[in-house]
Amino acid sequence: MESSSSGSCPQGTVYHWFVLFAVWLCGSQHVLSQKTPLEPKDKFLLSDPPIGLFDPIEISPSVLPHNANPVEPLSPMYPNYTSYDPVLTGKCHVNFSALSYMMDKTASDCSIPLAPLVADVICCPQVNSLMNIFQATYGAGNNTLVLNQASANACFSDVMSILASKGANTNIPELCTLRPSNLTDASCPVKDISTFEKIVNVSKLLDACSDVDPLKECCRPVCQPAIVEAAVHISSGGANMFGSSSISGSDAGINVVSDCKGVVHSWLSMKLSSEESNTAFRVLSGCKVNKVCPLEFDDPSSVVKACGKASSSTPSCCGALHSYIATRQKQIFVTNLQAINCATMFGSMLQKAGVSNDIYELCDIDLKDFSLQGKVTFQV
Ligand SMILES: *[C@@H]1O[C@H](CO)[C@@H](O)[C@H](O)[C@H]1NC(C)=O
Ligand SMILES: *[C@@H]1O[C@H](CO)[C@@H](O)[C@H](O)[C@H]1NC(C)=O
Ligand SMILES: *[C@@H]1O[C@H](CO)[C@@H](O)[C@H](O)[C@H]1NC(C)=O
Ligand SMILES: *[C@@H]1O[C@H](CO)[C@@H](O)[C@H](O)[C@H]1NC(C)=O
Ligand SMILES: *[C@@H]1O[C@H](CO)[C@@H](O)[C@H](O)[C@H]1NC(C)=O
Repeated sequence: MESSSSGSCPQGTVYHWFVLFAVWLCGSQHVLSQKTPLEPKDKFLLSDPPIGLFDPIEISPSVLPHNANPVEPLSPMYPNYTSYDPVLTGKCHVNFSALSYMMDKTASDCSIPLAPLVADVICCPQVNSLMNIFQATYGAGNNTLVLNQASANACFSDVMSILASKGANTNIPELCTLRPSNLTDASCPVKDISTFEKIVNVSKLLDACSDVDPLKECCRPVCQPAIVEAAVHISSGGANMFGSSSISGSDAGINVVSDCKGVVHSWLSMKLSSEESNTAFRVLSGCKVNKVCPLEFDDPSSVVKACGKASSSTPSCCGALHSYIATRQKQIFVTNLQAINCATMFGSMLQKAGVSNDIYELCDIDLKDFSLQGKVTFQV
């Protein structure tokens, strides 16, 4: 991947990777610009990342340079993925045309060069959402919310083949820990629509999840707890929530509730339009993903050595810091909120290792230095 600071290449030969970040502050909408400096003074004192302050972050699908401007030649980074006809098993009886919007969106969110970088943030949340909607589409009209194992094997293979034929990475199952069994939710005792609707307060569930507000959901979740409540409820087959203590609490119990969540997601997908349920699922995973820093800050001794002593020179300290961060930053795509968490986490790590100067300020480090998308340009 060609990485250079934007501006060093003539306009028109550089494919800029535009990223739209909308960062919401609970209660008031607030856009955090890429240039926002870290708060001086606080930066080394924040022992707890400011999680929950800025939720959620939405990354526009336009981040993906998949559909490059047609008049520009395609970047060599993005070979010409002409879609081809997938080879299907012939054993998955579902109308794939009804799913074409979801398939296209997922293939684009998981396109080959980007999937490993954006797996946690974009690709896997979208694949999980597709799985839920697929289950619902498959079961529609057949009174079922899940697939049996044989259909799941065939359909999983077909879905992955279709995605690959549209340019998606073929490693999606590994990247996203996904298996055919994710379509069966086998351990959940409730699998058919009529039983589900008898046991669960469906109007409450629909009210909570039909119009998930990204502004509110991450701050004061409404849909997520409704899903969990319904999942816990059906996991005991509708018995008193805490009546079957033999399951709840154990590992098996956790798996059952997790499978039952899949059943709840499938039911919601059946009731809502694909767009509505996809939005809901993406908001829910966005709330989760934005709370952590996914970068690994291993062995910062080069920075500590260069920056730790009072006598250390600024150029060597900043050189070490920039080179350390530049390497870590290439690991994975991070959202702005994750970048805040990463900056905070790394700052407190350095502080614990004895770096007392405010080297972010000294070396002019800001948020974009912690995120790949702030730096990378694609050269044609
Ligand atoms: C992509 O490949 C197809 C078929 O090989 C070709 O017709 C099309 O012109 C190519 N597109 C670009 C942008 O190179
Ligand atoms: C499949 O879905 C498409 C789009 O929703 C619809 O036009 C078509 O009639 C469906 N085909 C069958 C066999 O149900
Ligand atoms: C619907 O259920 C019947 C009977 O269980 C099964 O044979 C059929 O394959 C199912 N259809 C779909 C689309 O799953
Ligand atoms: C899919 O199944 C695997 C293993 O069974 C599990 O670890 C993973 O969390 C599941 N994924 C989803 C989205 O439920
Ligand atoms: C379902 O939930 C709604 C409000 O969330 C409540 O008013 C209603 O009584 C519940 N229905 C049942 C059958 O528990």
